[in-house]
Amino acid sequence: MATLPALDPSIRATVQELGDARAVPNLRWLSGLLGVSPERLGPWLAEIPQLAPLERALRQAHEGGGRTFYAQFRAPFELYMMTRASRPDNVVETGVSSGISSAHFLAALGQNHRGTLHSVDRPLVQARATLAKGESEVSVPPGHSSGWAIPESDRGDWDLRLGLSQEKLPALVKEIGSVDIFLHDSYHTPTHLKFELETIRPKLHPGSIVMADNTTWTGQAFPRFARSLGAKVWRRGTSDLVGLRVPEPL
Ligand SMILES: C[S@@+](CC[C@H](N)C(=O)[O-])C[C@H]1O[C@@H](n2cnc3c(N)ncnc32)[C@H](O)[C@@H]1O
Repeated sequence: MATLPALDPSIRATVQELGDARAVPNLRWLSGLLGVSPERLGPWLAEIPQLAPLERALRQAHEGGGRTFYAQFRAPFELYMMTRASRPDNVVETGVSSGISSAHFLAALGQNHRGTLHSVDRPLVQARATLAKGESEVSVPPGHSSGWAIPESDRGDWDLRLGLSQEKLPALVKEIGSVDIFLHDSYHTPTHLKFELETIRPKLHPGSIVMADNTTWTGQAFPRFARSLGAKVWRRGTSDLVGLRVPEPL
């Protein structure tokens, strides 16, 4: 098995700024997904400490919004690194909430000086100023909208479309030439995940990366899609975040 680069203390310190130890990057997962040896990830890993001010701002926004833990998405640094490594033209995601995944795609696209993040989200709005017991952590504090934790200065040229992905995703996909990276993190049912995957399928190409979070709830939708492409499913550790890389045709 390939040796993984050691995680420098400054990387762990950056993860701490975000405030959730689950976000320590999983290099085995990323290396499998990208199809590159772990050593090749070194340059992108070395950039992570530069994200410390962004991570601090995200954590502070969450704390200000009454969220005691940071996020619903546990692999933000892998999103950053894969976007830097693959230099996509189009990143598409469904499910924004406070904006952890979006912030990391945007940061990497900014460093690339090319490519666009297209996000679709139907925000759930929190009823009162403080999050009520039992109310979803993914809801948006009153007066805010999707991506509310991302500092204004870090939003770049973001194509954020508010509404149900059932309505917004088909139109978005028609408008763009390719889907180079896709992340499903919206409505986690087998039927809905299948709908999103089939919607993006015509714009995928060999090398496109497709990911889905919370696949405990989506049955066979992701593995079936992977089989239809002849792709291997890469699971992040023991979590239910999975991904695939579209293979070259045989
Ligand atoms: C798990 S959160 C997304 C977390 C986000 N990726 C992050 O990194 O923090 C799910 C989001 O999807 C939204 N959502 C749920 N069903 C949706 C649908 N059918 N279309 C679009 N957005 C949806 C929710 O309101 C919520 O904002």
